[in-house]
Amino acid sequence: MTEINSDSYFSIKFENDKFVFIDQTKLPLEEVYVETSDYERIAEAIERLEIRGAPAIGISAAYAVTLSMKNLPLKSYKEKFNLAFKRLEQTRPTAVNLFFALKEIQKVFNQFQNHENLYDLLLAKSKEIHQNDIDFCNRIGENGAKVFTKKSNVLTHCNTGKLATGGNGTAFNVINVAYKNGLVNIVYADETRPLLQGLRLTAFELEKNKIPFAVLTDSMAAVLMQQSKVDIVITGADRIALNGDSANKIGTYNLAVLCNFHNIPFYIAAPSTTIDRTIPTGEDIIVEYRNKSEILRIKNQQIAPENYDAFSPAFDVTPSHLITGIITEKRVNFFPYNFINE
Ligand code: MRU
Repeated sequence: MTEINSDSYFSIKFENDKFVFIDQTKLPLEEVYVETSDYERIAEAIERLEIRGAPAIGISAAYAVTLSMKNLPLKSYKEKFNLAFKRLEQTRPTAVNLFFALKEIQKVFNQFQNHENLYDLLLAKSKEIHQNDIDFCNRIGENGAKVFTKKSNVLTHCNTGKLATGGNGTAFNVINVAYKNGLVNIVYADETRPLLQGLRLTAFELEKNKIPFAVLTDSMAAVLMQQSKVDIVITGADRIALNGDSANKIGTYNLAVLCNFHNIPFYIAAPSTTIDRTIPTGEDIIVEYRNKSEILRIKNQQIAPENYDAFSPAFDVTPSHLITGIITEKRVNFFPYNFINE
């Protein structure tokens, strides 16, 4: 029988020169950990969403490139680094945390590429990126809990907890801290089609944290709001433009529009590593399109004929004017946003 408490699982860990991750595609029915020192295995895990969530993807990519440099002769450093770096860069296009972490690793490589302790230096940087995310998650939780003005019914989308980050989560940690402060009645978790991160992962984490919850299909959010059963919506983000336009899991934009109509506050919670300082607006965000089989099948079970065409964006972009506030580790920002100095 699997233990039900928040310390009984982790998403990613680096231990004894090995990277360990929980295979999120098997949750919540099986808690299976995979141990590897192969960067290619980590790249595949990111592509298959065994590892997922913007911050977790970035941290894992940093460890992956680091591992690719282990026990190499100095003369092979450059070729192998470029190979691993390019492989990881191509895993998923939307979460900017991936590119942020890879750039941080690249800076260390560029500075110490002739250093015999390169692996240790890259590992120190990967651990620093990981530790920063742990700290960011804690501060996001503390900052975000302050937006609760009363004991609330909260709705969230996709998964933003420990599974999606290096620490205790972003939007999930806001909810968790608010719950511990007596400010949450119930959490409604959207199932989050097509890959069911809400039903499989957020519900798993809510149960582990002993937070009261109910799951719903994505199309049920409107009626829940119409019945005045939602006081606040909080989600994460995968990339935030300088003006606050935010990419997050497909279906987030629907919620922001619904909140606007029903006059419900809609918040995004994300670390500053999710802000892309190179793009002025959300128009420049590259949205990943996934294989149509993810729509035509549920957990590999064929639901509709393979020859059907399908529309399969993994993310949508919510325009900043629909976002009441963006919670980072630094503060709660309010519309109109300007993240140049964040
Ligand atoms: O496709 P996924 O599962 O990686 O998408 C994840 C999300 O959209 C999360 O909401 C986002 O990465 C924030 S995670 C703290």
